[in-house]
Amino acid sequence: MADNRPIGVFDSGLGGLTVVKALQNLLPSESIMYLGDTARVPYGNKSKKLIESYSTQITTFLSEKGCKAIVVACNTASSQALDVLQDEFSIPVIGVIQPGARMAVNTSENGHIGVIGTVATIESNAYQNALEEHNKNIIVLNQPCPLFVPLVEEGWITGDVPKLVADTYLKGMNADGVDTIILGCTHYPLLKDIIQSSATNGTGLIDSAEAVAMEVERVLSNNDLFAENKTAGSLDCYVTDVPLRFEGLARQFLGSNIEHVSTISLH
Ligand code: DGL
Repeated sequence: MADNRPIGVFDSGLGGLTVVKALQNLLPSESIMYLGDTARVPYGNKSKKLIESYSTQITTFLSEKGCKAIVVACNTASSQALDVLQDEFSIPVIGVIQPGARMAVNTSENGHIGVIGTVATIESNAYQNALEEHNKNIIVLNQPCPLFVPLVEEGWITGDVPKLVADTYLKGMNADGVDTIILGCTHYPLLKDIIQSSATNGTGLIDSAEAVAMEVERVLSNNDLFAENKTAGSLDCYVTDVPLRFEGLARQFLGSNIEHVSTISLH
């Protein structure tokens, strides 16, 4: 039996639309309900308690809307709140950390892996723990990159300024000879070209959006949750505020226009 209920996807803002794009590419028949907590972004500098509470409110909203599974398309929320959500909700809840870590371990040849993300994600050690779970001999270099999110939000993704920022952040990783860097924030795929040009050793970049789409496919298959494979799935978007430059920003993340956007309040 096909299950045509939507997959719920959320992020602190619009960065999770990079995961929506990867899901639409891999699973075009699946309908998606996206929630961007645009009124409260960024999560990257907030406490664990607050991020857990915001993530629980959002997952409650999406499950009450009838979602069959939830994708936490935010590394910060995945690193701080995934276990709480998996305990509290009966539908599958999928985070971005494990799939990205697995892909990085399978990709790295020299076992030196770099992780870049928000301060909260890096300080949680979530990637370090996940990487060591897969292979305890992996050497992990962590680098918080707090300026990347505002650069992306400003649309400043090419040119000298992001290049200088990326060169500065990646200096230690380049010196260490990491051969793989995990883009541990759903905003970072938009800076992929700049980050790639600052990584001096021909380093491979792991886009957790692609890794998580493959994990969603596996979970839907294991739980018999695939939608009917006949028509293209829909995309419904909810935001908690419509920020300035919303449309341009959303188009940048998704690669196309968002058609149905509703503004909601969460409590
Ligand atoms: N998109 C979020 C992530 O993947 C980062 C933005 C934020 O700080 O809220 O971590």
